[in-house]
This record gives sequence, structure tokens and C-alpha cells, in this order.
Amino acid sequence: MKKNFYITTPIYYASGRLHIGSASSTCFCDSIKRYKKQMGYDTRFMTGLDEHGQKVEKKAEAKGITPQEFVDNLAVNAKELWRKLGCDYDYFIRTTDESHVRQVQKAFEKMLEKGDIYLGEYDGNYCVSCETYLTQSEVGENGICPSCGQKVSKVKEKSYFFRLSKYQDRLLKFIEDNPLFIQPEGKKKEVVAFIKGGLEDLSVSRCTFSWGIPILSNPKHVIYVWLDALFNYLSGLNVYGEDKSLYEKYWLNGECIHVVAKDILRFHAIFWPVFLMSLDLPVNFKLICHSWVLMYGEKMSKSKGNVIYPETFINRYGLDSFRYYILREFPFGDDLTCTPEDYILRYNADLVNDFGNLVSRSLAMSEKYFNGLVHNTKTNNEFLKDLEDVAKKTVENYHSYMNEFRVDKALAEVNALVSRTNKVIDETAPWALFKEEKLDELEAVIYHLLESIRIISILYVPYLIESTPKIFEALSLNNEEKDLLHLTFFNKELYNSKKLEVNLFPREKDPLKAKEEIIEEMAVEINKEY
Ligand code: MSP
Repeated sequence: MKKNFYITTPIYYASGRLHIGSASSTCFCDSIKRYKKQMGYDTRFMTGLDEHGQKVEKKAEAKGITPQEFVDNLAVNAKELWRKLGCDYDYFIRTTDESHVRQVQKAFEKMLEKGDIYLGEYDGNYCVSCETYLTQSEVGENGICPSCGQKVSKVKEKSYFFRLSKYQDRLLKFIEDNPLFIQPEGKKKEVVAFIKGGLEDLSVSRCTFSWGIPILSNPKHVIYVWLDALFNYLSGLNVYGEDKSLYEKYWLNGECIHVVAKDILRFHAIFWPVFLMSLDLPVNFKLICHSWVLMYGEKMSKSKGNVIYPETFINRYGLDSFRYYILREFPFGDDLTCTPEDYILRYNADLVNDFGNLVSRSLAMSEKYFNGLVHNTKTNNEFLKDLEDVAKKTVENYHSYMNEFRVDKALAEVNALVSRTNKVIDETAPWALFKEEKLDELEAVIYHLLESIRIISILYVPYLIESTPKIFEALSLNNEEKDLLHLTFFNKELYNSKKLEVNLFPREKDPLKAKEEIIEEMAVEINKEY
């Protein structure tokens, strides 16, 4: 029976155009989904939009349209962006979906009935931009949100509260018993320390604005946007709907991964498991926490003028270049400082010089020396033996990194195999073998190059989604020969290859000029209405 795998991005705030930071999370999930599919899993990948809350209400107001109109436009744009990035989600959830609304309302009533939610009054700070309640010590004398740097609002209103404190010990025990619940390890430590500092009851409703899900038993209040949003992971599986098959398949009988960036880890590592405990639903997910993509070392913001959108890179260097760059550099631990110069450097080095060159040279030699028909010819050449060993080891390492979700390291492994394969060309000098008429030796070399390219391309499938099919076609591979799950090494009998019609990765010949143009384009894009 197939194993089930469920992966989710955070649902992005429907408050503006999505930039490369959000794109990094979605591409990451997409690459993991594609890998799991290759490995024979039944996969479900969900992304979507977080459409309620005061921030959205204010933005819509400023534009003079209704919040619903505002979020409807953004949903169209988000889907369009994911389509451009090749992100193959199975379901796009919106928190204004009727089904989600009904299920959140039901969850809230259940928590009320259980006595985990009570009515009180909130008197304190609220950051509209992060949709977060903050203590006085967190905002300091100047009333600034420590996460986004914006001024917080003072709020005094009747509010329902969730008894977070009641679950503190159970949550700590859960984290201790499930060592892989929060990855990487360092992030887990931060969360544990925070919980040990003491959990305060959480305000879970607002009554001074209306763009949210009304509480069924007291519709003057709308449900706190984080409770609403977190529940998407289960409403998207129809947990409280009529047909529970998705919930049973993926949540009860699958591996569930929520991908989050560090700024929203606490919500996912504390509120979400506790809500599930309160609802008597299993806490059956793991959190993969990544860091941020910074532009020139700073958090992207329109006011700083340093926001970059994926389209800018894709239009110049193609989709694969973007997916490759963002996943090869995917930040765990330190933030990734993105700059156009680094992007071009990586593109020219890894994709143009190393991989693209390897593929085009090898296919050209196969054609030139053997008309594209290359047999699996045996030889004692030590370089070729070494290549075989490196290829096997690479695949082993690749799998272990992918199973730890370390796409950056998995890609570094593949690159090392690309370099090793390129080196074989220098070591064996096929043109000299041809001159010396050592045709068996030459055939063995070309065979090894093609076989190595086949293996590399299979490993690149989750990332280079446009170029790998072209390479498979040039190598005339059947489905079995593209299979990662049953990958074979250097025993395919014959290659029937042809040269590529297109240059997969055209070189950026003038990086300096390109950088300036990209910066100019950033300035234009940032001001576009969206
Ligand atoms: N709506 C909430 C999430 C609710 S999930 C139940 C939210 N939305 S967000 O749009 O502000 O952020 C969504 C995700 O994108 C978060 O993980 C956030 O950290 C991530 N990123 C936003 N900017 C980012 C970068 N510059 N770099 C990497 N990720 C960043 O929070």
C-alpha cells in the first residue's frame, strides 16, 4: 500500500503581492512533494491564503473596496504566481471558504463546551501587522512590535480567552516525547524555553472590527485570526465535514509536515498542538522551520524599496534557475541574503558552466562519435570506476538529506556529482581517445557520462522541472529508466541519444549590466498596483 504524505505552506496573509520570501516556502514544499511522489508516496500539498483580520480589513478600506473583493483579487494573483513557479499544489485553501468557516465555528464551539474558552476582557497591546497580542515588556516603552517593528495598537475590549496555561505541562511532555516534532533541533530549544517561561491565556476573539469568522453562539465577536488560520490545516482535509476520507487518509494515516518560517514558529508549536489537544484530535504533524530570505541583508519591505519578486528573475533566467537558486540556498539557521549578483553567480556557475555544459558536451560527443548509439561497454578505467562509486554514494546521501528535508544539502550532493562527471571528461580526454582510435574505451567514457547525466537529472526532478524532461527526451528514456525509487546504476544496455535543440541555460554574459537592470526593474515592480 502507498504511504501517505501531507505537506503545507503557511497560508499567506492576503494583504499584498507575494515576494521571493513566500515563494521560497512554496517552492520548498513543492520540491518535497515531488520527491515524495518519486518515492511512491500518495501526496497532498496544500497552500492558500489567510484572508481575515484587521490588517486585511484596513487595506481593503484604504483601497475603497470590500474586504471580499480585495482578497478575491489576491487569490487570483497568488494562484497565478504558483502556476508560474510550477508549484503543483493539490488544494488551495482560503479562510473565507464556506467550508472552512463552518469548520472553524464548530471547533470554537467545541472548545467553549469543553470549558477551555471563557469570556473576559483584553486590555493590552495588539500588532495589526502580525495579528498578535503582545505584553508590555515585549513592546517596550515606545510600543513597538519586536517582530515587524511597527507601532502597536492599544486594545481594550471584551474577549474570549483560551486556557493555554492548562495545557502547558502536556505540551512540554509532548515535545519531549516527540523529538522530531520541531526541526531543526535549535528551534525546538527556543520553543521549550519559551513554554517553560509560562504560558498566559490567549485572547481568541475580537469585537471591535468585523472582518472575521463570527462566533456561532455570540456573533458580535469574530474569531481571532490565528485560531481561524491554523485550523486551515485540518479544515482543508474536511475534518468536520461530511466526508472525512481526506482527514482519515492524510492526518490519521499519513505523515504531515507543516513548513513555517521562524517568525511564526511559536503559533504553530504552541497554539496549534494545544488547540488539537483541546479538540481531542491527534497532534500528528511535524514542523519544519526555516529562516528568512533577506534582500541585501535586510528584511524586505516596500518602504525600504528592497522587495524583489520572483518574476524578475524568472523572466530573465527561466523558471528552473529560480527554483534552483532558492532551494540550493534555502535558509535553515542563518537567513539567506539574496542579491542579484549572487543569483547570477550561482546561475552561471552551477547551471550554465557545470550542469548545462556537461549535458550539452556529452550529448554532442555521443552524436559525433557514435551517432547517438552508445553501448554499455566494459572497461577497467579507474576514473570511470570512481565515477560509479561517487554516483552511488551521492544517491545515498541525497536520500538521507531529502528525508531530513534539507534540500540545500541534497542539491549540494548532486552538484558534487556533476563536478565529478565533468572531471571525467578532463581525465579521459575523449577527443584523444578518438584520435588514437580507442573506440571501446571512448564508448565506455561516453556511456558513463550519459548514465551519470541520467542519474543527476532524476535527482534534479523536484527542482529543475522544465529542463529535466528535455534531458530525458534527449536520452530517449522510458518511464522505468526515469524511476528514482528503483534507480539502477550503470547497467542500462544502450543509449540512443540526440543533441538538445535548445540551450538549457544561456550564459549571463554581462553580470554587471544585468545586476543594474534587475535593480531598475525592482524599483518599477515595487510600485505596481497589485
Ligand atoms: N498568515 C500567517 C500564517 C498563517 S499559517 C496558519 C502569516 N502570513 S505571512 O504572509 O506573513 O507569512 C507567511 C510565511 O511567509 C511565514 O512563514 C513567513 O515567515 C514567510 N515569509 C514572509 N517573508 C519572508 C521572507 N522574507 N523570507 C522567508 N519567509 C518569509 O504569517
